[in-house]
Amino acid sequence: MLDSTQEFYRKAPPDRGASSFVYPPTDGNIGFFAKALKAGCLVAIPTETVYGLAGIALDPAVCRSIFTLKGRPLIDPLIVHVGTETHLEQVAKVTPAARTLMEAYWPGPLTLILKKTKAVPDIVTAGKDTVAVRMPRHPVAQQLLATLDAPLAAPSANPFGYISPSRATHVADSFGKKVPFILDGGESEIGLESTIVDLTQPSAVEILRPGAVSAKEISEILDQPVDHHRRDVADEIAPDAPGMLASHYSPRTPLKLFQAGSVPPCQPGEALIFLRAPRTDAGGEDRFWLSENGSPDEVARNLFALLRRLDGAGYPCIWCERPPEAADGLLLAIRDRLIRAATKKKAGGP
Ligand code: TXA
Ligand code: MG
Repeated sequence: MLDSTQEFYRKAPPDRGASSFVYPPTDGNIGFFAKALKAGCLVAIPTETVYGLAGIALDPAVCRSIFTLKGRPLIDPLIVHVGTETHLEQVAKVTPAARTLMEAYWPGPLTLILKKTKAVPDIVTAGKDTVAVRMPRHPVAQQLLATLDAPLAAPSANPFGYISPSRATHVADSFGKKVPFILDGGESEIGLESTIVDLTQPSAVEILRPGAVSAKEISEILDQPVDHHRRDVADEIAPDAPGMLASHYSPRTPLKLFQAGSVPPCQPGEALIFLRAPRTDAGGEDRFWLSENGSPDEVARNLFALLRRLDGAGYPCIWCERPPEAADGLLLAIRDRLIRAATKKKAGGP
């Protein structure tokens, strides 16, 4: 923990929420969080996608501490969150395509990869000459950015490789007193991380990470073809978006996927997750569903919260229905996260 965090911990307002580290988003608390950030502390903030672990983006020492806290490799660059055009121009060189997408989707769950300015420390971009930028639409994140008036580097607020947080308590569960300042913005409205679109080659726009904004929507707005980035073996060593390593977002409990409509080879005592409420009672007590009617919005909103809950419930194995092969959009993003979560690796864990 940074020394300044200790000092701010003593000054912390008494007005706490669900846990002693969670603060309701009152004007007073947002003012306190802005001051803590300016003094070099890391704090957790709500966004409409997932909670972020935020620090001042232009301060290399603060950004280094984000990597340390998450256990994140230094090759995996951070997303910079901006509240205004001025913040954006401080960190990125804005292109015509970026302007078009910003007009359509900002503030919102779309991250743009653009050429960086000199002001951005190398640690933020992992030495790349590009930077990931996003303007969140969560009102609490917006109020904090306006009060602070500086860009914020903020990866998802989870230990590297573990499931992203979509509730303030998820951050507290994972980090405990290592992240003593968590601003509560309620349940994340989307529940999955932003779509990342690479605009650095204007003639070959690519989606690096699927999310709520689809390739089809981006392609229509830009009036040009937009592809999903194709993985190859080299990507495993230095992927374009290192968050897209084959295994990521994983619970510690083994997660296995089963085909919709098939009977999973699940043993008694193992947990079973369906995308929508099953029509029969077969399968016993340890059955859960992500949505009553299978709506992708609801599935996305509940996915990380249910995986975290079941991961802490002592099941030997969690089975989850595999979303159907979907070309694009939120369903593709859900499928992508589940396939990565089911890919075995060394787990980070809370
Ligand atoms: O919804 C979100 O994007 C959330 C909220 C907090 O905003 N943030 C988030 O950050 O998901 P993180 O760090 O967990 O994921 C950021 C991804 C990583 O896969 C990283 O490799 C990629 O963005 N990235 C960052 N900068 C990049 C760059 N210059 N080029 C390519 N990929 C980049
Ligand atoms: Mg992440």
